[in-house]
Amino acid sequence: MQNHDNTNNIDTWTIVKLLSWSTSYFESHKIDSPRSTSEILLSHALGLKRIDLYLRFDQPLAANELSLFKQFLKRRIENEPVAYITGKKGFWSHEFHVSKDTLIPRPDTECIVEEVIEYIGRIKNEKQKILELGTGTGAIILSIAADCKGDFYASDLSKGALDIAKKNANELGINVNFFEGSWFEPFEGESFLNSFDVIISNPPYIPTGDINGLAPEINKFEPLSALDGGDDGLDDLKHIIDKAPLYLKKKGQLYLEMGFDQGDALKEYATQKKCFSDISVIKDFGGNPRVTSMTLS
Ligand SMILES: C[S@@+](CC[C@H](N)C(=O)[O-])C[C@H]1O[C@@H](n2cnc3c(N)ncnc32)[C@H](O)[C@@H]1O
Repeated sequence: MQNHDNTNNIDTWTIVKLLSWSTSYFESHKIDSPRSTSEILLSHALGLKRIDLYLRFDQPLAANELSLFKQFLKRRIENEPVAYITGKKGFWSHEFHVSKDTLIPRPDTECIVEEVIEYIGRIKNEKQKILELGTGTGAIILSIAADCKGDFYASDLSKGALDIAKKNANELGINVNFFEGSWFEPFEGESFLNSFDVIISNPPYIPTGDINGLAPEINKFEPLSALDGGDDGLDDLKHIIDKAPLYLKKKGQLYLEMGFDQGDALKEYATQKKCFSDISVIKDFGGNPRVTSMTLS
């Protein structure tokens, strides 16, 4: 690419040539999925759908398009995740805006969405009142709200994350009541006590000492406040288990995403509270324990 720049021969960079060159470039920098990464970033630089690249293989790039694509390449080589470069991430059945203030929604998290949608589908009577704590982009609550009837509430400590969640809700035309604050604090008023049928959370659950060892895509770019769950990773999960009985209706359900090795500890913690029944650990698509669910007795 440099040779072409140096000779000012930029008009020879067609889509097909650039895809081939950038794929090799990503390969040489050990970037995952080099071809699809090239396609996603080039289509984003050109404001095209990915499929359209294939219909315009011989189209030359304008200087400004080439310059934008080069900036994207540089950002990805410096480990910035593709979703932060494009500002979007697909999850469940929709595309969500993401920003530096939000965690990028993970495919593993579709497990909790699937469980809650199935549960709500089984409860055929009145509209359910559903709360998500630590909503980030809103991917969980909005995916559920798009598929189910109910009254939906969500909160986050981060105003920046809530701004993105609200933008996603507006674009999807989904009504969710958003609150800013720490875990249950925004819901301390009378009207919320023992009022929710379902409470869901994917809180930070990575042990503090493990954060430095995570991939740079995660520990250099994703918000620490979305990752760090304290010494054993269980601080926020335990806090939510402690407080949820105040806000759940009798027979209400609590669903918590957790690390694959945290199921036994959470089950034991919830059991010794003596107010929950049906405490279960649910596996994700890859067969890893991913969600703990429990019913308020
Ligand atoms: C692991 S991320 C999950 C984000 C999103 N629900 C998802 O699954 O993609 C945890 C979220 O909890 C939020 N959070 C962290 N501490 C919090 C607190 N004390 N109260 C409320 N939200 C908190 C973070 O800002 C972040 O959005």
